[in-house]
Amino acid sequence: MWTVKYKPKRLAEVADQAEAKEKLLKWFEKWKPGRKAALLYGPPGNGKTCTVEALAAEKGLDLLETNASDVRSESKIERFLGRGVREASLLGTRGKIILIDEIDGMEASADRGGARAILRIIRESAFPVVLTANDPWDRSLYEVRGLCELIEFRKVPIRDAVKRLEYICGREGIKADPKVLHALAEKNQGDLRGAILDLETIAQGRKQVTLEDLEVLGKREKEADIFAALRGVFKSHSALSAKHAVSSVDMDPSEIFLWIEQNLANEYEKPEDLARAYEALAKADVFRSRIIHRQNWRMLAYMVDLMTAGVSQAKKEAYRKFTRYQRPEKLSFYSKTMRTRARVNQVLRRIASRLHCSTRKVKTEFLPYLFFLMKREEGFTGRLASALNLSEDELEMLSSFYR
Ligand SMILES: Nc1ncnc2c1ncn2[C@@H]1O[C@H](COP(=O)(O)OP(=O)(O)O)[C@@H](O)[C@H]1O
Ligand SMILES: [Mg+2]
Repeated sequence: MWTVKYKPKRLAEVADQAEAKEKLLKWFEKWKPGRKAALLYGPPGNGKTCTVEALAAEKGLDLLETNASDVRSESKIERFLGRGVREASLLGTRGKIILIDEIDGMEASADRGGARAILRIIRESAFPVVLTANDPWDRSLYEVRGLCELIEFRKVPIRDAVKRLEYICGREGIKADPKVLHALAEKNQGDLRGAILDLETIAQGRKQVTLEDLEVLGKREKEADIFAALRGVFKSHSALSAKHAVSSVDMDPSEIFLWIEQNLANEYEKPEDLARAYEALAKADVFRSRIIHRQNWRMLAYMVDLMTAGVSQAKKEAYRKFTRYQRPEKLSFYSKTMRTRARVNQVLRRIASRLHCSTRKVKTEFLPYLFFLMKREEGFTGRLASALNLSEDELEMLSSFYR
């Protein structure tokens, strides 16, 4: 991924954020145990995490990274502090920076434990602690804020974003219309990660990008929506909000179904939760096939309820963790094979009309027999092809598709 490939390796490479970098360096030079932590805040994708990484690299320090939900319980904090956070080693020559990323990811009231853990780490760490957050004014961070020096990361201005995109294009050997890069920066509103992701979507593997290529990006937006919807289904406790979560996604319900199915097992961990959730999905799937086969759209409401509210209610308790959601494998498979499937269906329909039966019957009853003969009898494929008014290639394609 280009966001990783072009992650800044030194502070100077971090676009914009001059003031923030200066403040951070000053804070770092002055830091002693007992001093305040640094809280880097600002909207997503503007360089908070990568600046800390660049600082550590530049100063030759180890970066010890965790996130708030990994240190929630008392025993987890102990384990974390035990990883050499509490005391500076007399032997180890390399220092450390402790990074606790995205601390506002904790749910406010539920995560009192998270805030407490962070406070302890700040107080007891023998090394400088850096925190990041999108919204430092979140109520749950009230106490933490008191122990921090606040450093703002602003939206990356369009000019700086464009420069970074230009640099990447140069390194990738891509000729890009300046208007395209400008449009990408504008669209992402100071989110450089988003702009780089967009650029990669439209430019990867190509030598040139033009304004028309921007159209592809609609698709990525849809996927951002579905990620939010999946979180809504998996994390929520109310059946109603699970249902609402998917209602604004501009995607076919059966496609949403695939997304939920693909990601369920990464989100839920307890076997009982998984069993109940799969039960709900299986029932949703029954309705799905009834809708398709009988064109009975009234069933759609049941399908959607089962796959959203049903899956959401299947868990005893939401999993407080970050899950990286994936695009359904089936979907990629379908889109890869779409052209072939269209041709296969055409051939099937041709055979069905010659044999006066349904395509389903052709598939289940005739094809296995015909393939058998095609393999065994010299010249059979040719005769069959002319009898069905098809080419031999078409028959070969059919048999390799079903092999
Ligand atoms: N100011 C920036 N300068 C250069 N690259 C950036 C900048 N901001 C974001 N990026 C790109 O986006 C990726 C994600 O940035 P990150 O620092 O994780 O953002 P966040 O502010 O959300 O922590 C980086 O790996 C880098 O490729
Ligand atoms: Mg980050």
